[in-house]
Amino acid sequence: MPSPIRTERRDNVLVIVSDDPPVNALGQTVREGLAKGIEEALGDDSVEAVVIRCDGRTFFAGADITEFGKPPEGPSLPETLDTMEASDKPVVAAIHGTALGGGCEVALGCHYRVAVPSAKLGLPEVKLGLIPGAAGTQRLPRIVGAQAALPMVAVGNPIPASKAKSIGLIDEIVGEGSLEADAIAFAKSKIGQPVPRSSEGNANQDGVRNPDIFDEFRAKNGRKMRGFDAPNAAIEAVKAAGSMSYAEGVKKERELFTTLMSSTQSAAMRHYFFAERAANKIDDVPADTALIPVKKVGLIGAGTMGGGIAMNFLSAGIPVTMLEMKRDALDRGTGTMRKNYENTAERGRMTSEQVEGAMGILTPTLEYGDLADCDLVIEAVYENMDVKKEVFGKLDEVVKDGAILASNTSYLDIDEIAAATGRPGYVVGLHFFSPANIMKLLEVVRGEKTRGDVLATVMKLSKKIGKVAAVSGVCPGFIGNRMLSKRQEQANQLIMEGANYWDVDDVLLDFDFPMGPFQMGDLAGIDIGWHRDPSKVTTIREALCAAGRFGQKAGKGYYDYDEARQRTPSDEVKSIIADFATKEGTPQRNISKDEIRERLLYPMVDEGAKILDEGMAQRASDIDVVWINGYGWPLYTGGPMFWADTIGLDNVVAGLDKHDLSVSDYLRKKAEAGKRFTA
Ligand code: 3HC
Repeated sequence: MPSPIRTERRDNVLVIVSDDPPVNALGQTVREGLAKGIEEALGDDSVEAVVIRCDGRTFFAGADITEFGKPPEGPSLPETLDTMEASDKPVVAAIHGTALGGGCEVALGCHYRVAVPSAKLGLPEVKLGLIPGAAGTQRLPRIVGAQAALPMVAVGNPIPASKAKSIGLIDEIVGEGSLEADAIAFAKSKIGQPVPRSSEGNANQDGVRNPDIFDEFRAKNGRKMRGFDAPNAAIEAVKAAGSMSYAEGVKKERELFTTLMSSTQSAAMRHYFFAERAANKIDDVPADTALIPVKKVGLIGAGTMGGGIAMNFLSAGIPVTMLEMKRDALDRGTGTMRKNYENTAERGRMTSEQVEGAMGILTPTLEYGDLADCDLVIEAVYENMDVKKEVFGKLDEVVKDGAILASNTSYLDIDEIAAATGRPGYVVGLHFFSPANIMKLLEVVRGEKTRGDVLATVMKLSKKIGKVAAVSGVCPGFIGNRMLSKRQEQANQLIMEGANYWDVDDVLLDFDFPMGPFQMGDLAGIDIGWHRDPSKVTTIREALCAAGRFGQKAGKGYYDYDEARQRTPSDEVKSIIADFATKEGTPQRNISKDEIRERLLYPMVDEGAKILDEGMAQRASDIDVVWINGYGWPLYTGGPMFWADTIGLDNVVAGLDKHDLSVSDYLRKKAEAGKRFTA
């Protein structure tokens, strides 16, 4: 097999070029080619400088993640970079696209870095439960300082070229269309000068002079880092760059890296990396399916959901026509959207031009006819089948042929909705999660007749608007809410049997969910869907509503809330629950937190198994994508299905049996065969 790396001579400069689509990941053949290219440059006296660049869409985007967990094959990246850095001939990294992870470490091993304005640089290893493993944690602080290195290593978001220049990570920003030529000219200008080596830099002394920066960073980012092992290791490694010699620091980095690499957390996060990408693919829809151009989107409903959904498209520069039935609802909706954008701008995450740009492509309307030329119309009205059918019937009449008609329903039958139109092939579910402008998940619901090009189009569009999409078949609650209802069933049953409702919430908080079911009820409003007759009390929820305990907005729901919205368990609610249990004759007992956890989470795994068995999810990892992005399942456990694999499906089944809960044949058979859900 030809090497993905070639070398080209430009006068006295050797250009080492990687051509390994899609992202020039640093797999074994790339590392070998790179090592050979450097050897060639060092061994040839007529070569006086070196430029390293990549073909295709990006500079090296990191180590090849598919090699992780397999026996390492030389040459190793750290050794290759050490040889390169030791050279007295200037070596210049010419960066476009994304220089990430090992790719950024290649750049750090070079003596100079030049980049085009659109390039980004970063060390995102922490998002894979790792830290950089090719001396990135040691070289970076030595050239940009510990303070600037900390967020790059411990949070892992890439930074644009302009920021990289301002912190000293790159030396020059060059022309977008002339990267190689500019890099060669830059390299030539450095011939004969002593080369600067990142490993010898001393910018890291900022962390020695002011060691508080590490605690300050931890304090500022504590919430984001909660439960994750890698960010702490990252901070430790950056600290080591100041307190240890370069060689000792590299050793420290290696120890931390090796420990993380064999951890379940990193395995879970690597699983998630591939899961997210797999979820965007639909098995029976070819990757080259022609897409339906979506230049204009229609939205029906300017409420919280409709407005939030519209903002996704506006922010991505796609014009939106938003329909409401009444003028005041329309004005209220657009007013809220503007306010949300302005709040974002106040926090410095948008400019006021961007706010005006987004609001400027919004067209509010009271006329259905104005949706006629939209390429995609999303309905976000009241969850009622008759209402939805009426809306779709009207859309079918007014919207042009070939346009996609989507429902934001969270549980209604998409096939029934589609049947209200003469074009069921163009009907699809697009289930956004609230707040829709923030939450990452988009559950795409594939109806029986939904066309391949419609699916391919919405999957592509999801990426454009910054969502993570996963496909579900038509079943009540789809993937996410169907599994949630199993958890909620157990939560309700547990408190009837004597478990404290705050213990139920706390068990989920301890698992690192952002919120428990009863806190969630209080936040959303307990009175949602209430019949508003205080004399008719048949459930705990109705009893709470009858007592005016509508949730956080009323200052009391399951919990009592103080002004800072801190929750305290309520005696009134305890007695409401106890009365219900007595009325139903449910015996009361103490229930351990272990039992609570097992009864909340194992039935979800079982439901996930059924969803797979019925073909409602294409793959187990899609279910993980749904729960991580839509319901706050902790990423570092890999999602419910990966998590079940790590604790063992036999243990899940044993737990369900122990608590007398149902076990699907699919799950039981898998467990008995010693199998897993995920690869
Ligand atoms: N290794 C292996 N495969 C990779 C990869 C990597 N580092 N990065 C991307 N890919 C694959 C993806 O799985 C995908 O494959 P598919 O087409 O079969 O699904 C394909 O490349 C294209 O990737 P995306 O769909 O993500 O393409 P985008 O254009 O949306 O994004 C990207 C490109 C920004 C480079 C993004 O892929 C990305 O963030 N990659 C990971 C970067 C990363 O985490 N690097 C650090 C790796 S760990 C490391 O370097 C350790 C070192 O310190 C020793």
